[in-house]
Order: sequence, then structure tokens, then C-alpha cells
Amino acid sequence: MIEQPVWVNEAWQKVNEKISRTSKRIGANFPHASDKGQYVLAEPFWWTAGFWPGLLWLLYRDQPNDELKQIAEECEAKLDAVQHDYYRLDHDMGFMWTLTSVARHKLLGEEDSKRRALLAANLLMGRFNVNGNFIRAWNPWTEGEDNSGVAIIDCLMNLPLLYWASKQTGDPRFKSVAKKHTDTVLEHFIRSDGGVHHIVRFDPDSGEKVEALGGQGYAPDSAWSRGAAWAIYGLTLSYLHTGEEQYLETAKRVAHFFISHLPEDYVPDWDFRLPEGVDTPKDSSAGAIAACGLLLLADKVPASETAVYQRAGEKILESLYRNYGDWEGAEEGLILHGTSHFPEGKYTDNPLIYGDYYFVEGLARLRGYKELFW
Ligand code: GLY
Repeated sequence: MIEQPVWVNEAWQKVNEKISRTSKRIGANFPHASDKGQYVLAEPFWWTAGFWPGLLWLLYRDQPNDELKQIAEECEAKLDAVQHDYYRLDHDMGFMWTLTSVARHKLLGEEDSKRRALLAANLLMGRFNVNGNFIRAWNPWTEGEDNSGVAIIDCLMNLPLLYWASKQTGDPRFKSVAKKHTDTVLEHFIRSDGGVHHIVRFDPDSGEKVEALGGQGYAPDSAWSRGAAWAIYGLTLSYLHTGEEQYLETAKRVAHFFISHLPEDYVPDWDFRLPEGVDTPKDSSAGAIAACGLLLLADKVPASETAVYQRAGEKILESLYRNYGDWEGAEEGLILHGTSHFPEGKYTDNPLIYGDYYFVEGLARLRGYKELFW
């Protein structure tokens, strides 16, 4: 283990203590957001299904524990039914199977997990639109809705499943699709100032860009902080898996935008570009995701550039621990004050399982674990 600040070990211990309590109630289920102190359990097809088992694998990796392992394995098995329910599968297969099956395969070499993750990778690759070089985000949410041309920034975090699949099989198709999608993100999602669109709609036949949409941000040209966080981490991961310099350069551009918009406590508001009078709740999850991306970026840039990203990543995590962490009370979430979907008024001041997951992943990295599930 490398030397680390005292607070990192303190935080790690508190996380372990808390999860040993909450895992008894949550069990092999799929927490999404905590409401009135208790995690609301979602259906396994929801995009957040991988984060709880993924968090348990992070703890297991440090200190093997059969109870946590069993829960993570049961969650993974429950996802089998989702794989067979074609209509509910969307691009978030990357989040879901990376943190369950890929994680277990990397840690324990489980063959069944490899098979599940390869199946998910094939299904994800099948969403690629060859006309516009993008991975389609969702199936229709409502009867008759046409979102066949819709792609979203979050999808960058689904691509590591494709990079992993190419490595496992020696088949370059998965990686090619991931790179083409990333190139489209560079061209159409990332603005010159480093801000990011959440959603871009393409014509699914011609592949031409039609419009940018606000999505979970305030407006098409506002700056949804979690979208920027997905971009920082996702682009850096694409660089890690491909060595394409332009991915690294773009990740840096978004990182500078993100860091320069952070408030004094280093934890972002849900959107960085809001008109007067609009509420500005925090999104602690955006902070946690960005911190993981910044710490990876710090390791990938030349040594002379490392400090700015490393320092920002550490500052965010320390602030989450000291100012946003709930360590002693009855609350089940680890990190308070996340915003899931402000425009729809969904969970605008709540612990979110992905905030908890990335906080723990960031801590693990600070403790010396540089191998990623992604
Ligand atoms: N759409 C995934 C997210 O809320 O970031």
C-alpha cells in the first residue's frame, strides 16, 4: 500500500463499518436513491443495478468477506433475467455488467461471469448505428416514441465493456465500435469551452446531427455537472484502452472546465450554468465520478501536469468524506446531497448509489488500488 493521508484510511474504515450494517438490510437487491434514510430498491433492469454489487466487490478486493461476495454474486445472477428481456435492455449494459460480471471475472476468474459479460458486450455492440457512428441510448420509454437517433454522454462509461470484450476475444470489432462512438462524442458533444451536452439526437438514417437536448441538465447549452463528470472519466478510460491522444486532450479540456467551476467546498452544483432564480442543489455524485476521472487523468498525463488533477480529485473526495458523508446515523446512504434528475424533480437532495460507488472507488485508488473494473 502506498502512503496516504490519514483521512483516507479513516474514511475506508467508516465505509466498511457502515456497509457491514446496511448490507444486512439491502442484501442482494438494487438500491438506487436513499429516501428518508433508506435506500429505495429498484428493479434489476434499471441502469444503476451494477453499483451496489460493484461497491461490494471493491470492499471484497481489499478484505475478502464471504457475505459480501455472496450478495454480489446473487445480484449478478438476478441480472440474467434482464439479459433475456430484450425490450428493457439499453446502452447501460456497460455499467451493469462491468461492475458485476467483469469485476468478478477480474477478481476471481469466474468463467460464467465472462460469458455473461461477453453476451452483454455483444448486445451493447448491437446498438451501434453505422450511419451516424453512435451507440443508441434507449429504447422507446413510451408507446410510439422514436428515440432511435438518440445518444447520450453517459454512454462513455459503457465503453470499457467493449474494450474488455476485444481483449478477451481478440476480436477488434468491440473496440472499433467504442472508438467510433468516442469520436462522435468528440465531434458533437464536447463544446470548445469544455462544457458538455447531455443528449444529441441524430437522424438515424443519414447519421446527421439534428439537435442537442437538455436531458438531465437545465438546457441544451447549460452545463450538467454529472455529464461533465461522465465525460472526464469516460474519455480518460477511452484513452487508457486505446492510447488515442485526442481522447486525453479532450478529457483535460473538460476537466479544466469542471475544476474551474467548482465552488469553495469542491462539490459541484447539479448544473454549472443556471439562470438567476433556478434552484442549485448540489450533486455529490458528480463530484465522486469526476474525482475518479481526475485521479486516473493525473496518472496518464506527463508528470509535470499531474498535480492539478490529483489535487482536485483528492480535494473533492476529502470534502465528500468530511462534509457530505453520513457515518454514524441511521441513514443508509454513504454520501448525502446527490441530484438524480432535477428537471423531472426526481431525488434532488438524496444519497445516490452511484455517488456512493464512485466515492468508494476513489478511496480505493487513493489507497493504492490502481486496477480498475472499467
Ligand atoms: N442517466 C444517467 C445519469 O443519471 O447520470
